[in-house]
Amino acid sequence: MFKYDRFQQEAIDHINNGHSVIVSAPTGAGKTAIAEHVIDTCINNNTGVIYTAPIKALSNQKFRDFQNRLGDNIGILTGDISLNPEAPVLIMTTEIFRNKILDDQESLKKYRWIIFDEVHYLDNEERGTVWEESLIFLPSHMNLLALSATIPNIKQIAEWIESIHNKPVQTVVETERPVPLHFLFQCQNQVVDSLPALKNIKGLPELPYKFHRQNPRTGYGLNKIGPLIKHIREREGFPCIYFVFGRRRAEDLAKDLCRFDLLPKDDCGKITALYEELCRKFDLTRERSAQEMSDLVKKGIAFHHAGMLPTLKEVIERLFTSRLLKVIFTTETFALGINMPSRSVVFDDLRKFYGRYVRNLKTRDFYQMAGRAGRRSIDTEGYVYCRINPAKLSYNDINRVIYGSPEEVHSQLNTSYATVLNLYEKYRDDLYKIYPLSLHYFQCRKEEQKEALRLIEAKLNLLKDNGYIKNGELTPKGQFAKTVYGYELLLSELYERNVLEQLDEFGLGIMAAAAVFEPRKNQQMLNLSKSARRIRAVCEEIYAHIKQLEISRRIYPLSKEPYFHLSGSIESWLRGTSFEKTLLLTDTDEGEIVRYFRMSVQILREIGDSEVASPLLKEKIRETARVINRDIIDAEKQLRET
Ligand SMILES: Nc1ncnc2c1ncn2[C@@H]1O[C@H](COP(=O)(O)OP(=O)(O)OP(=O)(O)O)[C@@H](O)[C@H]1O
Ligand SMILES: [Mg+2]
Repeated sequence: MFKYDRFQQEAIDHINNGHSVIVSAPTGAGKTAIAEHVIDTCINNNTGVIYTAPIKALSNQKFRDFQNRLGDNIGILTGDISLNPEAPVLIMTTEIFRNKILDDQESLKKYRWIIFDEVHYLDNEERGTVWEESLIFLPSHMNLLALSATIPNIKQIAEWIESIHNKPVQTVVETERPVPLHFLFQCQNQVVDSLPALKNIKGLPELPYKFHRQNPRTGYGLNKIGPLIKHIREREGFPCIYFVFGRRRAEDLAKDLCRFDLLPKDDCGKITALYEELCRKFDLTRERSAQEMSDLVKKGIAFHHAGMLPTLKEVIERLFTSRLLKVIFTTETFALGINMPSRSVVFDDLRKFYGRYVRNLKTRDFYQMAGRAGRRSIDTEGYVYCRINPAKLSYNDINRVIYGSPEEVHSQLNTSYATVLNLYEKYRDDLYKIYPLSLHYFQCRKEEQKEALRLIEAKLNLLKDNGYIKNGELTPKGQFAKTVYGYELLLSELYERNVLEQLDEFGLGIMAAAAVFEPRKNQQMLNLSKSARRIRAVCEEIYAHIKQLEISRRIYPLSKEPYFHLSGSIESWLRGTSFEKTLLLTDTDEGEIVRYFRMSVQILREIGDSEVASPLLKEKIRETARVINRDIIDAEKQLRET
């Protein structure tokens, strides 16, 4: 055990005084220790505590970490995993917590604390609403511990929560990093060890390239990876996390680096043995992807991204924590909360794709990743290397990314139809009085507030005019819709038209996979079977109708469109085919297939849990979900057995 830092002690004192707390501290500062204090306190007092994390990899890691300390007192509930769900310390996704608050508060009675890890997710465009709703409807018997990366408006967030719950919310801020960061740059193939030194490299413009008269794209020497790795090695900068913004890029760089052998002979034997043991444990020995990775691993290199099998990702994570891996090429999700520190971090680029276009990294995102450099009590400094292409970035751009102040957290409120229905059930038309409780209302200007309220009204009216609500009550269709977050209108129409009831197990699988699937740009759809074509025709007709309804009422973003790219694979998987053969029926990455199949199981379960589904439909759904959720798709197995 260590001695608490000032900010940890301050937070713990507030907690001991029974107060809710929001903590803002840099990546790797030690926020978990505060969460652990709450957990220990609750166990000692015989009450319960809920811990929510934004991504499943993080929930799983926390489950494993806490399990070592807490044994049977820990449980996890994430939509595709449910282990020991009555435990006093319960890890869940924020979505599940929100659903429970809205629909099943009774089950939260014994939990006196809620911990939101990475609460700056409030600002996430797609999922931020879930955090906001969880905070708005926080049951009064629960205290709050919210942990955030560095954000400048933490006081404002605390004031907002205080204003709606009438109880004090203390703020604790830490700005210093326990291990300081040292920034280095590679530009025109030279590596320099400060931003001012970068200025001396010929060719780096002061201003963004778009302000340049002549075309700056010509004449720049491209950065090569060899000299960079050599530099890191000479500085004893391994282990190193190399962040890239693209899966193929991660793989290509890893394979390119394979020319170098980064491991001493002894370690090569050790890592090979460990890798083989882990592959056996996770049942990966026959997977081609695991075999391919093996050549890299032997040289101390690996890659890690969302397109990989979740089990292989976990093997790589474990290799990395063993300290035998020297360089891991990975995408951004690796930066989130997972305790995977290294001595160096490399940024392949300081720009990334933000939904619509490529732009410079937000300072907050930059530090989420950069903060992985420098391990407490091991390193005196963490090295952060930025690879600079002067045709794309100016000196001022770089300065802003690194030394600008982190962006404020802004509400991304976008109330779902399911939430509107759940609230309507409780508050009827008083649900409009809920909006002024939101962070959105707290932060926004008059016009934005008006627009937000208009959107809620438009959604409610759409639901009223289309048979979800009649005479002030939810109809069966409305009851159905309120449990299928994210896919409300499509699935409810299918339900109402009796389509769901008529589908067999294959049809249900096809439909679920289409609801959740999101194709890449220009991704081809392979040939569909007759039944898939039939289901697609119905879904497309329904979706066209929904889209037209939403456009005419100026509702945005539009409901998600169904895509049938995975129909062939899920049919084959449901027939009992091996995963390997199933892969051949799509050009989607294997890790993505696992993810979408798991999401399909989840949505099927949500449909099956609906009170208005017929016993026959429930039975068919149980069977479909059971068959999909086998072998490599079964997330629980990965957690339970290894
Ligand atoms: N007071 C302390 N003294 C020494 N080491 C500490 C202290 N507090 C935490 N640590 C160690 O620091 C490391 C990082 O801690 P932790 O994972 O809690 O960071 P975090 O603030 O949650 O960061 P992230 O933004 O990545 O979630 C852990 O290995 C932890 O054991
Ligand atoms: Mg953390």
